[in-house]
Amino acid sequence: MAGSAIGLGNIWRFPYIVGEYGGAAFILIYILSTLIVSLPVFVAEVTVGRRSRKSAYGAMHSLRPGHKVWKFAGFLAVFTPLIINSYYSVIGGWSLDYFLRACTGQFVSVEPSAASGIFGGFISSVWGPIVCHLVFLGICALVVLFGVKSGIEKFSKITIPTLFFLIIAMIVYSVSLPGAMDGVRYLLKPDFSQITPRSFAFALGQSFYSLSLGMGAIITYGSYVSKKEDIVLSGAGTAVSDLLFAILAGFAVMPAVFAAGIAPGAGTGLIFQSIPYVFSSLGQEVPWLSTLFSVVFFLSILMAALTSCISLFEVGVSFLIDRSRWSRPKATLAVFLACGLLGVVCSLSFGPLAHIQISGKAIFDLLDWFSSNILLLLLAFLTVIFVGFALPRQDVYDEITNGGTRPVNVKLFGFIYFLIKWVAPVFIAIIFVTNFIL
Ligand code: PFF
Repeated sequence: MAGSAIGLGNIWRFPYIVGEYGGAAFILIYILSTLIVSLPVFVAEVTVGRRSRKSAYGAMHSLRPGHKVWKFAGFLAVFTPLIINSYYSVIGGWSLDYFLRACTGQFVSVEPSAASGIFGGFISSVWGPIVCHLVFLGICALVVLFGVKSGIEKFSKITIPTLFFLIIAMIVYSVSLPGAMDGVRYLLKPDFSQITPRSFAFALGQSFYSLSLGMGAIITYGSYVSKKEDIVLSGAGTAVSDLLFAILAGFAVMPAVFAAGIAPGAGTGLIFQSIPYVFSSLGQEVPWLSTLFSVVFFLSILMAALTSCISLFEVGVSFLIDRSRWSRPKATLAVFLACGLLGVVCSLSFGPLAHIQISGKAIFDLLDWFSSNILLLLLAFLTVIFVGFALPRQDVYDEITNGGTRPVNVKLFGFIYFLIKWVAPVFIAIIFVTNFIL
């Protein structure tokens, strides 16, 4: 679960959302959202998965047949990952391109002041990002096709800890850059005047996204969780490691952003503009270290992106195999074509299609916003309502306390159940509405 949670959401998305929606004050709201809303949603999703022993599409419906709304929840659990997969693989393509640039030593030779400029030229071009996106998605398709999951799992057990240590090293170096301390202050000193109602919507959306909630992933993983496992403890462990990873990524990126003179609210490209600055600054001092560091760094990001994308890909493929009785190659090809095509449109929305905007958002931003702030919230809402109202209280008690055998969970049950049944739905509903009226 931590493997699914830690991905581009922490390294790429979190720093730029923090930059756009309120800095340190946003981080506080984010932490509170995670503890008060996301953690109960997490426990609810694992409860549904473990109780039903079904993947996300049929889980709720199998526990309470007869209600169309739980079928709709199953549909959301398949549809949302497909949308996210389409644009996630565009960012995966950018990581691939940056990895190749690192291999050819491009960041070492470029002047630090010019490093962030590479990005704008790249994403607004037509073919480069499209080819990278399709190659990235193609690699995921191959893995899903051949099912070399154990290989990928072993690989991610190496790359995630590597990425962790690299991020720490990156923090140490980037805070030493001239002007970097402004970035540290930006992350530590809350300025509540920067908070808008939208900050709350984005904090909750980001928290769900980062923990892989509201898209069926945790329901599916929950269906494999053994009856002996403590799901509250698993949830807390996943949430804390995910939070830690995101905040560390913020401290690696934001000082570099300020040192490079980039606006923190620069948007989706924030990490791709700021991190090369760090490598080219280091390249002026110790070129070989800069090359080594940049290659390993972008390889780790690439792997984190691949493992997450593969699990998103697998949701659609297993759905088509189960429901339509398609063969695995046919289902893989269908998901590849659908996500590939939508991803191409997303990629072009940074260049030739940039003029197509709906309420000020280009296609990429629109899909990102729609899936994270609307679809994820919708499924998360249905899940907590399901666990709070449709499942018998005793069933939920059995899942959360492992049949009354976990003394701490027995004591906490009333509180956790209250969070799931009342607090989480009310917060999600208010924040959901915020998206439309403010
Ligand atoms: N939680 C992942 C991230 O933060 O990058 C995104 C994700 C991956 C969500 C896989 C869902 C999923 F099944």
